[in-house]
Amino acid sequence: MNPNHPDSRTRLSRFRNWLSLAGMVLAISSFFAFVLLFAVDLFATHANPYMGILAYVVAPMFLFAGLAMILAGYILETRRIRKGLPLREGSFELNINLSRKRDRRLLVAFVGGSIGFIFLTALGSYQTYHLTETNTFCGEACHKPMEPQYKAYQHSAHAQVACVACHVGPGAENYIRTKVSGVRQLYQMVMNNYPKPINIRHADQRVAEVTCQTCHWSQKHTGDVHRTYKRFLADEENTPFTVQMVLNVGGSDPVHGPVEGIHSHMNVSNKIEFISLDDMRMEIPWVRVTDADGNVTEYRTDDFKDDISKHTIRSMDCMDCHNRPAHKFMSPNAAVDSAMAFGRIDPGIPWAKAKVVEALVQQYATRPEAHEKITAFLRAEYEGDDRADALVREALAIYDTNFFPEMKADWRSYPDHIGHKDTNGCFRCHAGNHFNADRSKTIKGSDCNVCHKIIAQGAGEELEKVNLKGHDFFHLDSEYLEPNCAECHNGQLQE
Ligand code: HEC
Ligand code: HEC
Ligand code: HEC
Ligand code: HEC
Ligand code: HEC
Ligand code: HEC
Repeated sequence: MNPNHPDSRTRLSRFRNWLSLAGMVLAISSFFAFVLLFAVDLFATHANPYMGILAYVVAPMFLFAGLAMILAGYILETRRIRKGLPLREGSFELNINLSRKRDRRLLVAFVGGSIGFIFLTALGSYQTYHLTETNTFCGEACHKPMEPQYKAYQHSAHAQVACVACHVGPGAENYIRTKVSGVRQLYQMVMNNYPKPINIRHADQRVAEVTCQTCHWSQKHTGDVHRTYKRFLADEENTPFTVQMVLNVGGSDPVHGPVEGIHSHMNVSNKIEFISLDDMRMEIPWVRVTDADGNVTEYRTDDFKDDISKHTIRSMDCMDCHNRPAHKFMSPNAAVDSAMAFGRIDPGIPWAKAKVVEALVQQYATRPEAHEKITAFLRAEYEGDDRADALVREALAIYDTNFFPEMKADWRSYPDHIGHKDTNGCFRCHAGNHFNADRSKTIKGSDCNVCHKIIAQGAGEELEKVNLKGHDFFHLDSEYLEPNCAECHNGQLQE
């Protein structure tokens, strides 16, 4: 029989065409890449969510493309046979005869080329894996939507800590969860339908306490920490208003110091659990404490009458206070105060605090719009003042590090739970409105000295009168409703 007659080709031989063969090389290479990525992923010390995208999305995509090419080649070839067409001139007919010099050369070139391709694919995948480990990748390449977090991170105490060190928890469960949501996030990004602002709690991807504990030790006794808050009033003189205090951070492990102070709720010698009604955990109507001896006390607010079994009970962890360790968006009030304290805004410019805060708090839809309007507003307010340029520059710098209108990210969308001035923070539980069953006590709170002692306050000479016993907070002439500071202070100007 004429070997060139189409019918002479068996089913298997229909794969003998360039398309199918190229598909095979592609499929084998991507399978090889997948195995390699899978192995790296399995044994890497710091698991990486983007690895999942490579291993479980990109590599299989190429694998399927290769398989599709093999099949397409087969189908095309079958069609030719059905139509009774003869082999194409110069078409590929696998009829290897190793005694022929040309065949030997072709085979060596093909095998050599394929091995080279497979090797390069593997190398490429491994390099890509390394790229996805870097912060630039997390913050920039794949993550336009995460620009706000990346910017804020670069100004945080953790600017040298890799994103993956906090965002990928240890253990198989965390690992798989990050993989799955990584893939979902990729999809959302491609479809441009990710939520604005991004809410990590919706994504069920909260940072776990164990990840903080890879570097920080819950048993450590921190004791007293001295802090100075340099504030300025929104008056014509930008009157300085400084508070110096000693925060009783304490500790929670009796082996390393007394169990006392703020860090006493670290789940070492006691356990605090709570129910929250929203995913930012702003509203906490129910709290349960189990002390070292196993005594349980439940506290709840008066208007919370629900059966607790209807709610999820959570254990308090680092993130219930330190929820912005790496991505703190400063409020306009706080950002302008710190710019003045560091001399970046001249406190000698009349009404500077009030005006810059006013310019920053307006709602702008885009960054260019914000730049234009902030500039126009401040230029108009300070017409003829040669300090206006510097003021505008600093206002824009504050805006650019703390406000991300396109992602709707700023201090309002990401409230900070440390403290209690601009948002309820500690006062979500410590406002004195959570009672135990017989209403004989509340969670310690209305006493201002439970957490800190104010040792000096005011400006100039007043600040030198340090009182180590601590004194009452004197709040200008104005009354303050104890203790709900955030009812008036919300990061903007007070009326
Ligand atoms: C020190 C640990 C830490 C590091 C390092 C870190 N993050 Fe975060 N990140 C957090 C915590 C904590 C949250 C908030 C968790 C919560 O509210 O439950 C968070 C939240 C986020 C969110 C959700 C939006 C938000 O602001 O709540 C994104 C997105 C994010 N981080 C991206 C990144 C990127 C990108 C990097 C690296 C450039 C990074 N993170 C580095 C701890 C960290
Ligand atoms: C990879 C190590 C690492 C991880 C993980 C880590 N931290 Fe840190 N953290 C540090 C280092 C280092 C510093 C000290 C930075 C400095 O003062 O120079 C620090 C500082 C801090 C501070 C003091 C901040 C300040 O303003 O001085 C807090 C609070 C803190 N970390 C909380 C957390 C929390 C909460 C987590 C978990 C979400 C966490 N850290 C995860 C390494 C880490
Ligand atoms: C009840 C709230 C709360 C919890 C829970 C909590 N912290 Fe803190 N922590 C604070 C406060 C308040 C400060 C001091 C004020 C500040 O740094 O702004 C502080 C200070 C720190 C510091 C800085 C200490 C220093 O020497 O300056 C570190 C580090 C820290 N916490 C880590 C952690 C880690 C890790 C966890 C979880 C295991 C944790 N904290 C749990 C409230 C808390
Ligand atoms: C989820 C609720 C909750 C939040 C939020 C919370 N606490 Fe507490 N805190 C408690 C409970 C409950 C106790 C124990 C009260 C008791 O034993 O009666 C407590 C006790 C304390 C104590 C007293 C420890 C002692 O016995 O000496 C301090 C100090 C303290 N908290 C500081 C803070 C600070 C600072 C913050 C904010 C950064 C904060 N807490 C946020 C629930 C909370
Ligand atoms: C449950 C603990 C707790 C109680 C109770 C508490 N504070 Fe505070 N307070 C804090 C913490 C924590 C900070 C530090 C916040 C930070 O580091 O950003 C703070 C900060 C402050 C500041 C500085 C705020 C700023 O940003 O300028 C003032 C002023 C203050 N507290 C006054 C009071 C007064 C007055 C009371 C009593 C009504 C009180 N505090 C009760 C925990 C507490
Ligand atoms: C009834 C409203 C109200 C309440 C409640 C209130 N404040 Fe104020 N506070 C003001 C006003 C008004 C000013 C003066 C604003 C100015 O000139 O900038 C002010 C100024 C301040 C300042 C200095 C300026 C600044 O913006 O930082 C601090 C610090 C402060 N308050 C802390 C607190 C704390 C802490 C609490 C809770 C214990 C509290 N306030 C409760 C209205 C209030």
